[in-house]
Formats: sequence, C-alpha cells, structure tokens
Amino acid sequence: MSQALNERAEIARQLRLHIQSADAIPVSNPPLQPVAARAEEESDLLSVEQDALSCTKCRLHETRSSVVFGVGCSDRPPIAFVGEGPGAEEDRQGEPFVGRAGALLTAAITKGLNLKREDVYICNVVKCRPPENRTPLPDEVASCLPYLQAQLRAVQPRVIVTLGAPAQKALTGEQGGITKIRGVWQEWEGFPLMPTFHPAYILRNASAKRPFWDDLQEVMRHLGMENK
Ligand code: URA
Repeated sequence: MSQALNERAEIARQLRLHIQSADAIPVSNPPLQPVAARAEEESDLLSVEQDALSCTKCRLHETRSSVVFGVGCSDRPPIAFVGEGPGAEEDRQGEPFVGRAGALLTAAITKGLNLKREDVYICNVVKCRPPENRTPLPDEVASCLPYLQAQLRAVQPRVIVTLGAPAQKALTGEQGGITKIRGVWQEWEGFPLMPTFHPAYILRNASAKRPFWDDLQEVMRHLGMENK
C-alpha cells in the first residue's frame, strides 16, 4: 500500500474508533449525534476512495495513470459538480477538471459564483480516463457508478449539478439531450439536481455559455446564496 493510502487507512480507522466511542455515549446527548454521523460519512468516503484507487473492474484501469476520485469540500458542500470522466490532464494530475474545460468550470465557480474550488465538491461519473477522451461505455459507467453513488451519499451536497448528458444519464437514467433537459430541477435520492451543459461543450459552442450561467444562478438562488 502507498504511504498516502496508509495515511488514509489510518484516518479511516481513527474515524471508526471515534464513531464507536461516540456511539457508546447515551443517545439522549443530542449534540453528539451529528458528529458521529458526520464521522461515519467521512469514513465511508475514505473507504470508497480506497476501493476506487485499486479498482480493476473495467478496461479503463489498463490505460490510466491515476484514479481521479474527487476533490473539494466533502462535508455538505453547497454544490457537487459531476462531470463525465477525466481527460489527459486530469489523468496526469489525479484531480478532476484541471484541463481546459476545468479552467472554464473553475472560472465559473470563482469569478462567477464567488466561491473557491475547495468550497464545492467536484467529481466524475468514471474515475479513470477513457482513451482519446471518448464517452465512457455503458459497462464502464455501470462498473464505476457505485463509487459515484457512494461518494455523493457520503458528501451530502445541498445541490448536485450534472455537467452534460452522460452525467445526467448515469445518475437518473434520463435519455434526453442536455439542450432539452438543462435548467429544470430534478432529484437524485432526494438531493436537488440541476442538469446543465458540460464546460467542454461550452468551449465548442459559445452560445451555451449564457444558459449554463443561468442554470448556475438558479442553483445559487435555490441555495439562498445569490448575492454572495
Ligand atoms: N471533463 C470531465 O468530464 N471531467 C473532468 O474531470 C475533465 C474534463
């Protein structure tokens, strides 16, 4: 096991001990309940990440340099952005949305929403780069989906924003094109979900920038953060 994985395993072990000791405290002590629940979610996230880091469930593991799991605030962030899958730069750095499309998303978060990248959670449907940046195949999505589902359950975002049709289809089964379904609230497991354009699409179609921005503004209104 790598040193980073060892460290994560140790944190997960300590969190589990913390949960056990918090569980031993009488349930009539209400302030400790959320702490225990939170620790459990953190521990869940770390164990999902550990599983994903050694995953060989689909062919994408054969060509990856990194497993790109997710970054940002993992404790009830206002927004979790869900993209399609890592590109070349993400595969190299091990972090989602750090290439050209990532620069656009980061500018929208920082300059547009006045948040930091660390304030939100950012992840993808598939955690390994599809060769030539092709759309992930259905069996690749099916193999990776449990990681995405588990990470969203652990992170508990206030709103999920799906970037592009593949992310929307993976989470909700929605088959429609993103142009038709964007901007309309949906739900995934009770979390409000806003589908919008993928930043890579906006780089190719400047006319998508305005609706993308409208969708993010609507998310901020929903969160009561529109004047932030
Ligand atoms: N496109 C994605 O869908 N995800 C990334 O992380 C980068 C580009």
